[in-house]
Amino acid sequence: MLIAEGLVRRFGPVTAVDGVSLRVEEGSCFGLLGPNGAGKTSTIDMLVGLAKPDAGTVTFSGKLVTPDDSGARRQIGYVPQEIALYDDLSATANLQFFAGLYGIAGNERERRIREVLEVAGLTDRARDKVKHYSGGMKRRLNIAVSLLQRPKLLVLDEPTVGVDPQSRNAIFESLKLLQSQGLTLIYTTHYMEEVERLCDHIAIMDAGKVVAEGDLPSLYSLLPGQNTLTIGAANTSDASRILARVRSAGFQAEENGASVEISTEDLSAALGAVAEANREIPFTSLQTHKRTLEEVFLNLTGRSLRD
Ligand SMILES: Nc1ncnc2c1ncn2[C@@H]1O[C@H](COP(=O)(O)OP(=O)(O)OP(=O)(O)O)[C@@H](O)[C@H]1O
Ligand SMILES: [Mg+2]
Repeated sequence: MLIAEGLVRRFGPVTAVDGVSLRVEEGSCFGLLGPNGAGKTSTIDMLVGLAKPDAGTVTFSGKLVTPDDSGARRQIGYVPQEIALYDDLSATANLQFFAGLYGIAGNERERRIREVLEVAGLTDRARDKVKHYSGGMKRRLNIAVSLLQRPKLLVLDEPTVGVDPQSRNAIFESLKLLQSQGLTLIYTTHYMEEVERLCDHIAIMDAGKVVAEGDLPSLYSLLPGQNTLTIGAANTSDASRILARVRSAGFQAEENGASVEISTEDLSAALGAVAEANREIPFTSLQTHKRTLEEVFLNLTGRSLRD
């Protein structure tokens, strides 16, 4: 549905986006992950036609997306990272204003406003001024604005920042409902569990480039094993002996002070080998852990701060 090829965007000496290519299938949820400053927003600005790439192209259903052509852009809804609403107006008045910008008028305008308020769970508070809204309500209204045009593709830039679990859940439920009705989603966030819950295809960006891409199982396969088994030993010399034992049984393991961490796909086979070692060398603790997307992310993007 949406294809980006070789996107580049520069700000003076900074190359914010450095050759990004993406392919978003119709009906899917495409997750775009990356640390602060990775270039997510700069990429999205080009995907939705708000910014012109310094190189590369974006096509939507075969049509070029550019800032000067509103054809394809009309079918793409965009929820900006920064909330863009008029504080002194009510939700309804905000929606009327944006509907006007999109050229939606009359009964159709009122129908769509009712529809998007319902999706955002704001029908009962539609007459209140936005300045009296909570952070979560503002976020939901921000999304409602983007739905007025009944887009085929909805692009959301960190839509759950500063939102409590209830509002976040409400946002998820409405996005899932919209997706089941055929809406395609592009979703950027720092929250890994959101992507795990919502997205079927994920790209991880860092320093302007896509560093990994695929469905969840293929991203997990980038780690040495989907499970870890951590053994605590009484001292470092016991840990070294345990390490030697599990390695000789064919497992990938690392020593870390007085503990040993085994990475494995096959947890029960590893437990077997560990039980064997335990007959000779006493453990002080044993923990198993299933890898998370966060570990995939940190493994690819490193642990240093970005800004
Ligand atoms: N208008 C601008 N002028 C100058 N530099 C910019 C501009 N917009 C973005 N940048 C720089 O481009 C890089 C990528 O920024 P971008 O906002 O796209 O990252 P991001 O992944 O969306 O980050 P965040 O998670 O913090 O929103 C950063 O180094 C940023 O400082
Ligand atoms: Mg951003």
